[in-house]
Order: sequence, then C-alpha cells, then structure tokens
Amino acid sequence: MNSPDAETRPKPFWLDGNFAPVFEERTETSLKVRGEIPRHLNGLYLRNGANPPSGMSMDWFLGCGMLHGVRIENGEALWYRNRYVQTPLLDEEMPSAESRAKPENSIANTHVIEHAGKILALAELSLPIEMDSNLETVGPYRFDGKLERNMTAHPKICPKTGEMLFFGYSMRPPFLMYYRVSAAGEIVQAEEIEVKGATMMHDFSITENNVIFMDLPIIFDFEMRAQGGLGIRFDDDYGARLGVMPRCGTSADVKWFDIDPCYVYHTLNSYEDGDEVVLEGCRLVGYMTKDMVKPPLPTLHRWRMNMRTGAVREEVIDDLGVDFPRVPDALVGQHHRYGYFAQFGQDAPTVDAFHRYDMTSGTKTSHILPDGRQGSEAAFVAGEGGSEDDGYLMSFVYDPSEDRSDLVILDAANLADAPLATIELPVRVPAGFHGSWVSN
Ligand SMILES: [Fe+2]
Repeated sequence: MNSPDAETRPKPFWLDGNFAPVFEERTETSLKVRGEIPRHLNGLYLRNGANPPSGMSMDWFLGCGMLHGVRIENGEALWYRNRYVQTPLLDEEMPSAESRAKPENSIANTHVIEHAGKILALAELSLPIEMDSNLETVGPYRFDGKLERNMTAHPKICPKTGEMLFFGYSMRPPFLMYYRVSAAGEIVQAEEIEVKGATMMHDFSITENNVIFMDLPIIFDFEMRAQGGLGIRFDDDYGARLGVMPRCGTSADVKWFDIDPCYVYHTLNSYEDGDEVVLEGCRLVGYMTKDMVKPPLPTLHRWRMNMRTGAVREEVIDDLGVDFPRVPDALVGQHHRYGYFAQFGQDAPTVDAFHRYDMTSGTKTSHILPDGRQGSEAAFVAGEGGSEDDGYLMSFVYDPSEDRSDLVILDAANLADAPLATIELPVRVPAGFHGSWVSN
C-alpha cells in the first residue's frame, strides 16, 4: 500500500508524460501516412523500451521491456504492433534484484538487434531473449548452450565480416567476459578479460581489427542495491581507462590507456587512423558523484589512443547535450564522417531535436522537433545510393497535443527538412531506449 505522502509526491520523470508506460498490446493495420515512404525500404523498424506493467518502477532502467514495431513494404506501412517481452519478471510489481539476478529473468528493455537471422531483445545483466518478427517472445537465447551468462545490450556487428562482437560484465568474478560470434551466429571465442572490479559497462566499440573496452569508475554498491534501484555510484579511486584488444586477442593483449575520469553510456563509433585508435562517444562528467544534484548532460568527445607510444589525446567535439549516437550500420568500426544524435532536455532525457555532426567540417545540421513534440533514438537506415549520408533517420515522435505518436522518416542528407514521411499511429509510443531496422 502506498504511504500517504506517496500520493502527493511528484512522479519521477520515467513514470510521467510520454515516459509513462502503456498497458495495452495492440495490432494496428490501417495506418495513415503523410508524405511518401521511400519505396525501396522493405523491413521492420523495431524499438525497445522500459514499460513496467504495474505502472511502477524504481528507475527508468528497471521497467520490463516492451517492443514497438512498424512493418514497411513497397511504400506502405503494413502494421504497428507493441508487445511485452515475455519473461517471469512481468509477474512482479517491481522486480527485485534477487529475481533479476537469474540470467534468464531478463528486464529485456534496452535494445533489440538482428544477427544471423535471430531477433534478440537485450538488457545487459541477462541472457538475450529471442523474439519473432511479429514481436512474439520465443525465449532465452543461449547460442547453442555456449552462453550461460549475461550479454551487453550493445553488441557490435562488423559490416565487413558479419561477426558480432560483444561482452558481458558481472558484479562478481569474472567481472568481464568477451565473446566473438561468427556471421553464422556461432560463438567462436569466449575470453575472460581482467579488470579491477565490477563496474557498470554499458557499451563498447570496435574498429576493423580491435575491440575497445571502457573500464570506467561507475561501480556497484551492494548496500544501495539492496534498497532497490540501480545501486551504482562514482568511485573516486577506481580510475578510468580504455582498453584496446585485437578482436581475436586475449586479456594479456589488451593495451590500456588511462583517461580523465568520466562515464560513457554510449559510443558513437571507433576507427583506426595510422598509429591511432580513435573512439568517439557521449561523455558524462560528474555522473553519480556524491555532489550530483541532477544527472549531467552527455557531450560528444573524442579519444585518440596512440598504439605505438601509449599516449592518449582527448578532444571535446561539442558542448551540446546529446546522446543516442548512431552511425550507419555499414560504417561500424570504420572511419565515419557523420554522426547522428538526439538532443536531451535539461530536466529529463526528452528528445527535442536530432543532429547530424560533420566531423570533417565541424558543423552540424539540426532537425528541431516543433510544437513540443518529443522524439526518441533515431536509427540510421541506408538508402540506395553509395554516399555515407544517403539514408534516413527513423524515430518514434510523440505529439502531446493529440497524445499519440508517429513514426517519422527523415532524410539524413537534408536533416533540417520536413519529414519525408510521417506514419501516424493511433497509439502513444513511450520514450524508450534503442532500436534497429531489420531489412527484409
Ligand atoms: Fe544503451
């Protein structure tokens, strides 16, 4: 039962406005489209997000996952569906840390990807959950019994080899594991990577020949965790470092680079440039420290690690608060010119605009959402031409005046322009986390 003051306390942002969950699973087939959907786009846009079925959760990151999907073919939007990822945690009002500790009991709310013909709903402390292309749950996915533990929600798929590279961190030893999955979907390497302790490692990055681990000072505090919530805090003594390892290497091959303490939820991309391995990502300074009043905004940052000299150079790219970084899937691990981002609001991670940064010219092109509309992560979907920015950004955008959402398709090369197509949904799609375009 709620205490009397719980009734009057303001709702946390993740249960309010368009962050609030929806409670109905819908299938909608008569979707109105404004503008024109490019006819060569054939596939399924999928996006995951937290959607606590009880309407309550201790943190934005702790609500059970719900997928939202729109199938597009030959210039038409065939359907919209939303479905919970079915796991035993759906039966708990607020899943306890103990329940969440079982690898098959996934919150399954963070990302949804496709590799080797499998659609996987991911959350970083659990096994992947396999889904079908109608958003129905198949069940926990163990790579033919070769994965017994958790998998990050941010694996990287190499566009050249088709390999999927990922890691799993743990609160207990071994603290970090690395996995290499063949293009056919078989785990061909599993390595323990030595790190000092249990840190919340949300993402990593790859280049053509290497993977990059981010060993950063957000640690788990088990006393805090026992009270519910994430149970994480900044640790003044842990230090911060980036580790570059050959893709087929072992822990002994990791070259570590000490950097200024910070946290990075999301990397944009990495690539090799002569002797340097370059990582770009959204950096938080002052996150989860004792003095933090509200979370700082992430800003775009670059680390240049010299593999020959061991030196690292840090560069601020911009001071605007942005996250949900994406490059085209075809450029993951390769040199990129453009990066796409969502701009976060000051008081909550509402997405008020999308930006395209041009790393060559140092300029950015922006698509500001009008009339209080709120977007979410935008996935880059490749077009038919060969140029890097030939493609589209796809994102669910919430319209507060009608209390419903659209799937918006923007022209990546002309980002400031009005959408090429707006697929009107009769429902609200809550602000969520990450998604993918799964091409036919
Ligand atoms: Fe993420």
